[in-house]
Amino acid sequence: MQFKKVCVIGLGYIGLPTACTFATHGLQVVGVDINPHVISTLKNGGIHISEPGLRLLVQEATSSGSLVVRDSPEDADAFIIAVPTPFLEVDQGVYNGRSHRLADMRAVKSAAESIVPFLRAGNLVVLESTSPPRTTINLVQPILEGSGLKAGPDFHLAYSPERVLPGQIIRELTENARVIGGIDRPSAEAGRDLYLHFVKGEIVLTDSTTAEMVKLMENTYRDINIAVANEFSRLARRFGVDIWEAIQIANRHPRVKILNPGPGVGGHCISVDPWFLVEAAPDLAELISAARHVNDAQPHFVVDHIKTLFGNDLHGRRVSALGLAFKPDVDDLRESPAIQVVKLLQENGAMVHCYEPYVQDTVIPGVMIMPTLEDAIHDTELLVLLVGHKAIRDLDPGQVLPLTPARLVFDAVGGWDEHLWEKSGFTFYKLGVGE
Ligand SMILES: NC(=O)c1ccc[n+]([C@@H]2O[C@H](COP(=O)([O-])OP(=O)(O)OC[C@H]3O[C@@H](n4cnc5c(N)ncnc54)[C@H](O)[C@@H]3O)[C@@H](O)[C@H]2O)c1
Repeated sequence: MQFKKVCVIGLGYIGLPTACTFATHGLQVVGVDINPHVISTLKNGGIHISEPGLRLLVQEATSSGSLVVRDSPEDADAFIIAVPTPFLEVDQGVYNGRSHRLADMRAVKSAAESIVPFLRAGNLVVLESTSPPRTTINLVQPILEGSGLKAGPDFHLAYSPERVLPGQIIRELTENARVIGGIDRPSAEAGRDLYLHFVKGEIVLTDSTTAEMVKLMENTYRDINIAVANEFSRLARRFGVDIWEAIQIANRHPRVKILNPGPGVGGHCISVDPWFLVEAAPDLAELISAARHVNDAQPHFVVDHIKTLFGNDLHGRRVSALGLAFKPDVDDLRESPAIQVVKLLQENGAMVHCYEPYVQDTVIPGVMIMPTLEDAIHDTELLVLLVGHKAIRDLDPGQVLPLTPARLVFDAVGGWDEHLWEKSGFTFYKLGVGE
């Protein structure tokens, strides 16, 4: 199938690089977003998200006239939906006495509705947003068929998940293998013809529900593996074992690869997507649900351990939290377990000063982010390493010592060398290490 013009709905971390990449690979692209700030920033030559290489790519796409941005869709050969699919903030489901989160599909619904007036026979629509199983056929298809056209005979419909890594999005967009699941074979093939404009990785064709499951399975697999590492860290502490040593030894087994424990799982993918499976089939997803609960409870485990350093009473204690992002070397704070730890420390009466090298001017209600490391540690009793950002991991304890009155250190990510810190005069504690 031939494509000349594509409309990309949702210009965030996924939609904007995708729109630009189509535009720099020979297609006319209309980028659509309902957020006026996004549209005005892009129209003024700026970008509203931070991703290496994106600014240049946007400039290249817009200056050539191949990418234009709009607040609503228009006629095109293909439509791509790349809008957010978070979980609902307030509402929760319950199955067998255990709570689970619910997918917020309002953006997908309204994006699909916005396409209806422009849908023509022969068009292709691709949903890229991470979605619960059968969203393409049960939610998107009926909305689009409100146009009077039928998916299959009249227009193509496919699901194609995005698997890019923030920080590497522009390279991975073209290099990663891509799954394209059609509601029928011609839809999958139409999707392949579209993405062949820039995808250099393998393109795998399947049906739309399999493609939805694949994406959810990938992130669920990660979540469960982190959950077992986190649970091992609790058991190790109970039994007087050093989890880091135990994992290192276990991983010498040729078929074992245990991940590292930490303060929990965050971000908008791994901590969200497994819930979509739990919500869709709570009776069948007990392990997935349990893993989510283990990871969500891990900040509590970290704080319980820290409390023991102060005789189980944190009232009035001064603590410095180093790192707030949901993982190392990104500026993304969404669903970050580090922020959870900070809030729990505060709820327990501690006064917490935070340092996050990637975020200077973001305001998180109730969380005090200091402009420099020195500001965060100059009046404290305990340094807590919460995110293994390289800049923090590489701190020289000998140089930290004169900057702080703290002599206690708690490493929640296994990022610091215990011997170096102890040699410099600190007393070192670590997640998952029993006394
Ligand atoms: N960011 C990632 O690394 C990543 C990786 C894989 C998958 N995903 C998935 O991709 C999807 C998009 O994620 P993102 O990170 O790009 O989200 P984002 O929040 O960065 O951007 C989404 C954009 O869509 C816009 N939007 C919302 N509703 C709209 C509508 N009806 N019409 C037009 N625009 C609308 C928002 O204003 C926003 O600018 C999600 O389902 C996410 O789970 C994201």
